[in-house]
Amino acid sequence: MSEGFDLVIRGGTVATASDVFQADIGIREGRIVQIGEALGRGTEEIDATGRYVLPGGIDSHVHIAQASGDGIVMADDFESGTRSALMGGNTTILPFCLQEKGQSLRAALQGYHALAEGNCYTDHSFHLIVADPSASVLGQELPALVEDGYTSFKVFMTYEGLRLNDAQILETMDVARRTGALVMVHCENEDAIRYLIGRHEAEGNLAPRAHASTRPVAVEREATHRALSLAEVVDVPVVIVHVSNGPAIDEIRAARARGRKVIGETCPQYLMLTADDLDGMNWEGAKFVCSPPPRDADAQKACWNGLETGVFDLFSSDHCPFRYDDPEGKLNPKGKTSFRHIPNGIPGVETRLPILFSEGVMKGRIDLSRFVALTATNHAKVYGLERKGRIAVGMDADIAIWDPAERRTIRHAELHDGADYTPYEGLEVEGWPTTVLLGGKVMVRDSALVGRKGDGRYRSRSRTGL
Ligand code: URP
Ligand code: ZN
Ligand code: ZN
Ligand code: ZN
Repeated sequence: MSEGFDLVIRGGTVATASDVFQADIGIREGRIVQIGEALGRGTEEIDATGRYVLPGGIDSHVHIAQASGDGIVMADDFESGTRSALMGGNTTILPFCLQEKGQSLRAALQGYHALAEGNCYTDHSFHLIVADPSASVLGQELPALVEDGYTSFKVFMTYEGLRLNDAQILETMDVARRTGALVMVHCENEDAIRYLIGRHEAEGNLAPRAHASTRPVAVEREATHRALSLAEVVDVPVVIVHVSNGPAIDEIRAARARGRKVIGETCPQYLMLTADDLDGMNWEGAKFVCSPPPRDADAQKACWNGLETGVFDLFSSDHCPFRYDDPEGKLNPKGKTSFRHIPNGIPGVETRLPILFSEGVMKGRIDLSRFVALTATNHAKVYGLERKGRIAVGMDADIAIWDPAERRTIRHAELHDGADYTPYEGLEVEGWPTTVLLGGKVMVRDSALVGRKGDGRYRSRSRTGL
């Protein structure tokens, strides 16, 4: 059989979304070319005995170098964001390209590409955030961009300046119907949030915890129901991103029971954090502010159940890093006067996989194949990354080798992102991706970064493989 491998990964336990088996993996010219027993020699060899050989993680929900509404600078650029992603076992990320009001999508894309080019440790592609669905954007630009490989876009039902009304969401979904693209929806009812913010402010209730109280479950449940209904009216599949609680999950289940194609996504914060974390002393609760907010133990249980039973197809980080302290004056000083001025989002691209591996696989909640599906295979399929997310002949050799015996205590000091904290400080995890390959090149060897920025490249995408 095939001789002359560039690299052979030998003796590991390989996991795909359907099977777990012992095999060697032969790699040539960046691709997996053979999987089998006792493969011939490679120029380079990696002994994976006692370790799991998994597809590199794909994180399809990441924010990098995006401006927040208040002009606060995100803590990660593409160099630090993808370095952090890589060190946590990821080989591809899908960040967002945010369209500013009045800006063309192409101009927005140019900006993000310029920031990413030559600076990435992982492969990347972009979702588009449609913030200004003008006639020319919906009529010409967006369809052309789908042809060019930007096959997914996110719309927001919340955030002043970003939210679309129902008519605009319907029109954007109609572009997806006509072009075969996929719409992702952030489901929270902005008017209900405004109303609750008004009440909290009138009562002088301005602490970080009020962020969660002004975005209760009903706000997310209503918007989820509406997004699913709008998608049903247009007759398109839809992705409900960052789902945080049981009632929202029930909406997804009900839509599926009506025959709708719905992709559900949840994130580590909804398994590991609660609204009580926003109560921290000295404004520390700001470290846990994200939208939707983390909820309670029942919601955590519902999200675990959704991962176990297939309600969720995607487990993503929603990495959206802002610094807590502000030595350079980049953080809006108003951030510590009212919950309204705390930028929404928390870091998590490096900890996503270890948390699910440790809390999910090692604790017996999900099996290894489900882990692979939730963290890599499904992301590639849903978002049209044809050569990624699987260990199979012909695929890009994007591989994470996990040591299940590696125990770590999560400490921000040991992570690689640009933020100054992790919401998971002190969490003990079992298992870590200690060696990571991107396109057959060893990027992380025995937990040491050996790849270079610029090794990660832009990847155009096909339409969803749903
Ligand atoms: O709070 C969050 N999730 N910030 C990131 C932006 C978004 O809505 O995904
Ligand atoms: Zn690029
Ligand atoms: Zn969102
Ligand atoms: Zn997000």
